[in-house]
Amino acid sequence: MQLWNKGFEPDQLIEKFTVGNDRNLDLRLAKYDVEGSLAHIKMLERIGLLSKKELDILEPALNEIKEEIEKGDFRIEEGVEDIHSQIEFLLTGRLGDIGKKIHSGRSRNDQVLVDLKLFFRDELKRIAQACGDLFSRLQLLSEEHKDKLMPGYTHLQIAMPSSFGLWFGAYAESLTDDMYMLLAAYRITNQNPLGSAAGYGSSFPLDREMTTKLLKFDAPHYNVVAAQMSRGKTEKAVAAAVAAIASTLGHLAMDICLWMSGNFGFISFPDEFTTGSSIMPHKKNPDVFEIMRGKCNRLQSIPNEVALLTANLPLGYNRDLQLLKDILFPATDEIVECLNMADFMLQHIRVKSDILEDKLYDYVFTVEDVNKLALNGVPFRDAYKKIGMEVQRGEYKPTRNIHHTHLGSIGNLATEKIAKKMESLLSEFR
Ligand code: ARG
Repeated sequence: MQLWNKGFEPDQLIEKFTVGNDRNLDLRLAKYDVEGSLAHIKMLERIGLLSKKELDILEPALNEIKEEIEKGDFRIEEGVEDIHSQIEFLLTGRLGDIGKKIHSGRSRNDQVLVDLKLFFRDELKRIAQACGDLFSRLQLLSEEHKDKLMPGYTHLQIAMPSSFGLWFGAYAESLTDDMYMLLAAYRITNQNPLGSAAGYGSSFPLDREMTTKLLKFDAPHYNVVAAQMSRGKTEKAVAAAVAAIASTLGHLAMDICLWMSGNFGFISFPDEFTTGSSIMPHKKNPDVFEIMRGKCNRLQSIPNEVALLTANLPLGYNRDLQLLKDILFPATDEIVECLNMADFMLQHIRVKSDILEDKLYDYVFTVEDVNKLALNGVPFRDAYKKIGMEVQRGEYKPTRNIHHTHLGSIGNLATEKIAKKMESLLSEFR
């Protein structure tokens, strides 16, 4: 039975094809759908479309459904199209005609938008939290290992001295860039579409400021058409933020795979955190970070998927938009899972000391030695030539002491300053 049933049943194949995976996905929207309805009926009472008596019947009935959802006693029945229909059917089943009144001045188009905004708002907070946790772990490791040097690479060739302090700290600060994206997605999300109805508003005098306050949105999406346009646009912003984090995390996973390789051996993990081979008895593989890299690479495709799904849709609601849930719902789970896994694994990372003692890395010190000459008055280009010729003749001997003091360098990681930046970003989500 459909909310829009007018005496004929749609063909079953049509029903199955159009509902698709929605009954499953909509379960995650259930509690938000009730919250949206609670705000809507309070507003309907304020503007005289429901009596106080009716509100007093509807409100506890909706709260009862909310409890059932929280307890897990809730399902969307076969033949019911979506979460919005299920809740309205439950209400009319339990309350009769009063249940039929709640949809005044509303359409499933703005209803699903409200649900999604509330859902994504919570998901973005969850992602921010997971980013914050990994950030703290990375900063801790950066400080703990700040004196352990390693080679820095350009073109994957040995370049200049780096350190584990710089490396861990780099990924921490890089996450703050992603948090700016996440915050943008949060701000775009946190606007109230309720009252836009089918996408063109209503002839009822809806109090949209009231529902904005009740649902704790920052502001309304004022223009009702713009409100409807935010379906797809919101998802695009969320997808971009998820992809940004995935890009940082995938990069970290790649470094770890490379540096766990026997050819580098810069880092390792206890045996229980590695995986083996069915034929090669010696193997300790970095499968966790390979799966993480793969998932993060896949997550970087979701902005494209959203863009293609929504490209050139006609203005107003189109059913295509329903499919956005298939893209975004698993993605927010997956990025949180990857962030948590990275945090978990890094608790156990082992870092090699004295890597640069190996003659293999002698050349990381050439620039240090050029700079030493320059500090003693030799013009930089002449100093460069002198050391360059020593290397060329195979006579270069590194002096090996390192003195980097400027902001953000090996000897001055600016950990506190970066922590402040993250803290102020995180506070925007509270
Ligand atoms: N399941 C639909 C969606 O996610 C709900 C809105 C349906 N609106 C409609 N006019 N068919 O988009």
